[in-house]
Amino acid sequence: MGAITALERKCWPVFMNEAPSCHEAGEGPDWSLIYERYPEFVFGMLDPDSDDLLGAGHCVPVFVKGGELPDTGWDWAWRQSMGPETAERPNALCALAIIVDPEKRSSGLAPLALATMRALAIEHGFATLYAPLRPTHLDRHPTVDIADYVTWRLEGGDHFDPWIRLHERAGGRIGTVCRRSMTMSASVDKWSEWSGLPLTHDGEIIVPHLLTPLNVDLAAGLATYIEPNVWIIHDLAGAAIE
Ligand SMILES: CC(C)(COP(=O)(O)OP(=O)(O)OC[C@H]1O[C@@H](n2cnc3c(N)ncnc32)[C@H](O)[C@@H]1OP(=O)(O)O)[C@@H](O)C(=O)NCCC(=O)NCCS
Repeated sequence: MGAITALERKCWPVFMNEAPSCHEAGEGPDWSLIYERYPEFVFGMLDPDSDDLLGAGHCVPVFVKGGELPDTGWDWAWRQSMGPETAERPNALCALAIIVDPEKRSSGLAPLALATMRALAIEHGFATLYAPLRPTHLDRHPTVDIADYVTWRLEGGDHFDPWIRLHERAGGRIGTVCRRSMTMSASVDKWSEWSGLPLTHDGEIIVPHLLTPLNVDLAAGLATYIEPNVWIIHDLAGAAIE
């Protein structure tokens, strides 16, 4: 677990490690719960020579009623699988994260991680893998509405966003957007420190690595970022393990 935590620190923007979603009590989601409850749905990818951890994946079983996917994407999946109302009859697997060491990107590990998640879903008898996906290049277009962004295609038809493209290549399809997938709130001072920006005005501020603007409330001393994601649906009925 220590190796995965160290890799997460390398992979995520600092605010995602420091002010993670689902931290109402002032603490991050207890990530260790996933190892206690669902060790079969956590995997790492090791360098065969050095045994160094190069990538990792986390997913959880969920119950999705009638294919309806909530606007609270990632938070919903976390709360449903970890909270007291843990789904008793999970009917799908939901991706929480895939990470690849920045020094090992574009080396085939991301498609391998996704294939592994699809295989885990099939092995456990689930007909669907869902992913509340963080489009990796949306941070370059933080004023574009995610509902528009997910329609962007390259000439030839491939998706504009590399991470959505990869999911589509693996067999996933775009579902609804989940506008309130993650909520990250912290003091204005903390956000200022993480972003390297003096946050001296109220309202929406563009901050590097965020997919939408940060909302600053100076009177409350708080800044809040609500991250929009998009549901990707992998229909696996009849699919074979690759
Ligand atoms: C998302 C992630 C796992 C993808 O890993 P990856 O190694 O970059 O994935 P791939 O090598 O398969 O690259 C996918 C595509 O992105 C392209 N790409 C990768 N990095 C890029 C960059 N910095 N700029 C432009 N394109 C890039 C690759 O060329 C590839 O393009 P292709 O579809 O034309 O082949 C990795 O970027 C990561 O760990 N990100 C941080 C955590 C994260 O956001 N996880 C997903 C949460 S839902």
